[in-house]
Amino acid sequence: MDLDGARVLVCGASGVLGAAAARALKEAGASVVAAGRDADRTGEVAKDLGTEPLVFDVVDTRACAETVEAAAEALGGLDALVVATGVAGFGPATEQDAAVAEELFAVDALGPMALVRAASRHLPDQGGCVAVLSAILADLPTNGMAEYGAAKAALSHWLTVLRRENRRRFTVVDLRPPHLDTGLADRALAGDPPKLPAGLDHGQVVDALLQAMRDGASEVVWDAEAKALAVR
Ligand SMILES: NC(=O)c1ccc[n+]([C@@H]2O[C@H](COP(=O)([O-])OP(=O)(O)OC[C@H]3O[C@@H](n4cnc5c(N)ncnc54)[C@H](OP(=O)(O)O)[C@@H]3O)[C@@H](O)[C@H]2O)c1
Repeated sequence: MDLDGARVLVCGASGVLGAAAARALKEAGASVVAAGRDADRTGEVAKDLGTEPLVFDVVDTRACAETVEAAAEALGGLDALVVATGVAGFGPATEQDAAVAEELFAVDALGPMALVRAASRHLPDQGGCVAVLSAILADLPTNGMAEYGAAKAALSHWLTVLRRENRRRFTVVDLRPPHLDTGLADRALAGDPPKLPAGLDHGQVVDALLQAMRDGASEVVWDAEAKALAVR
């Protein structure tokens, strides 16, 4: 898709990756609305975008739909949705608190699905794009991250079916980056992360996101041999 002039909603724009993606899309010529949970950080990003911020909790699926409606109204339509909301949670599978597990699935799988469903009603008949952050964990089950990984795997699976069902209507980008430098692990709902490698510069994910949207790619994944993100 041509990002210049595209109307884009970025959810999770209060986060490190979402904020950088929103600003990069604006820089590329898109009209961008920022949606996030933290009103102050969402507002700061929105100021740079020149649009009104939208504040919502992704656990509330009705609020997800209302946020998409409000963005489409503000932008006069919607060409693309970027979902960068997410939260981590750590601990052995047998010991994870049930409420934490529910919230991980709500934030990392069910909320993003609700956002995409609502956005799909506004995308043009052809040429629209949905880009969603899942994670490398979707392909790489990891001890101490059973629920976070399972929620991301559920999301990634769902995105694959979404892509197949809508291949003539819009493109679906599933971004599955490795551990990043954003500090997400320090904001986990529960537990401490296992020893992690140095985080990849999130700017590389933002560059790959924009490339994938422009090229109509299906995924952004970590190529372990090349030690780089692959857009394909
Ligand atoms: N960092 C990594 O290592 C890594 C690796 C692979 C994939 N990812 C994925 O990349 C995406 C961006 O994460 P990040 O690294 O930029 O972390 P981040 O800075 O913590 O951003 C997370 C975003 O999710 C939002 N969020 C969390 N719970 C929410 C809720 N209940 N309702 C609404 N928004 C909620 C946060 O909103 P508030 O700040 O307003 O609360 C924030 O905007 C996530 O999907 C994450 O899973 C990250």
